Amino acid sequence: MLDLLIHNASLPDGRTAMGVAVQGGVIADVSPGLNPANAPAHETLDAEGQLLSPPFVDAHFHMDATLSYGLPRVNQSGTLLEGIALWGELKPLLTQEALVERALAYCDWAVAKGLLAIRSHVDVCDPRLLAVDALLEVKRRVAPYLDLQLVAFPQDGVLRAPGALDNLKRALAKGVDVVGGIPHFERTMADGAASVKLLCELAAEQGKLVDMHCDESDDPLSRHVETLAFETQRLGLHGRVTGSHLTSMHSMDNYYVSKLLALMAEARLNVVANPLINITLQGRHDTYPKRRGMTRVPEQLAAGLTVAFGHDCVMDPWYSLGSGDMLEVAHMGLHVAQMTSQAAMGQCFDAVTAHPARILGLQGYGIAPGCDASFVLLQARNPVEALRLRAHRLKVYRRGRLLAESPKVASRLHLAGRGDAVTFQGP
Ligand code: FE2
Repeated sequence: MLDLLIHNASLPDGRTAMGVAVQGGVIADVSPGLNPANAPAHETLDAEGQLLSPPFVDAHFHMDATLSYGLPRVNQSGTLLEGIALWGELKPLLTQEALVERALAYCDWAVAKGLLAIRSHVDVCDPRLLAVDALLEVKRRVAPYLDLQLVAFPQDGVLRAPGALDNLKRALAKGVDVVGGIPHFERTMADGAASVKLLCELAAEQGKLVDMHCDESDDPLSRHVETLAFETQRLGLHGRVTGSHLTSMHSMDNYYVSKLLALMAEARLNVVANPLINITLQGRHDTYPKRRGMTRVPEQLAAGLTVAFGHDCVMDPWYSLGSGDMLEVAHMGLHVAQMTSQAAMGQCFDAVTAHPARILGLQGYGIAPGCDASFVLLQARNPVEALRLRAHRLKVYRRGRLLAESPKVASRLHLAGRGDAVTFQGP
């Protein structure tokens, strides 16, 4: 007798009428034709042809800042730099209790949206490491239902901010998983490059992954990604290093990018674009035409790089909106990158599921025998429809256990000349 059988499900790879058998929190079988008659289970769910996807994964978030919108004031200009200044005003006012409370509240939102793994940067420039301690506590508390991976992020620059390198090392010693950085915020291009070298060497020494905020700028000459790719291949960190944002690539000279993409591919550099944030933060110094300021996602995918879309911010000094909905993130990414073909829309779905799972190094991710029985049932028949509708989450499972559920969305219409009320089952 199985623990759980989900039958009549559509899968992201296009297979339909599939059964997924679960035993002991692990997927035991994925086959067409599995049904309650031939695969009895303690719990059975008829997916009614809806899409069963592995959970959403967010490869780039700031959980220490989330849900702080308006504290102590709102970002008036909407720029990255005012956001960083505003975060600097907020930092002395933070308490560990408030940080934990807001982060746990956000994790509840995430679970309801089927988002079960998050890589969050945590600012290490405060010598108290208040946010580090708070998010390590949150990581422990959410572990039964959500994978939280933490990046030691020197927001004010590892070389520019006094004591930042020491704080970053202390954060790693406390259990933070990944080495972060922000080369474009260092005082000079030379310092930016030096910070990349220093931080990649530290990661290599300690066997850590790397994820840097890199070239989050409209300056086409902000080329720290070149150094990041170089250090990655020099130190043999292939596939273990991520460049987050990389927005200057939007503004770079095409000839230079043609060389750069090959170097990034050689280093197997991962990329995280943050479409909601960079479509609002970048191009702020432009009049018209205004640049979009998102990195070159289709070209990076064509070069064989693993590219994810991250949420980055929800209701914080940089962004006043957001809800933990990775389909909203992918929907924006699709529009900004003009990824409108069927295949490209499928890649946008992958950019909030399989691709970030690979970047985080998640084990047992996917819908295949032997994988964790973690998935989200969406009120949509395929990934493109899920993107179009930012589909409703019907059920969210983690290792075979139901974490969240909500009824199908339906509207009842009352239209003159149409007789009885029309019930409109979904879109
Ligand atoms: Fe970020």
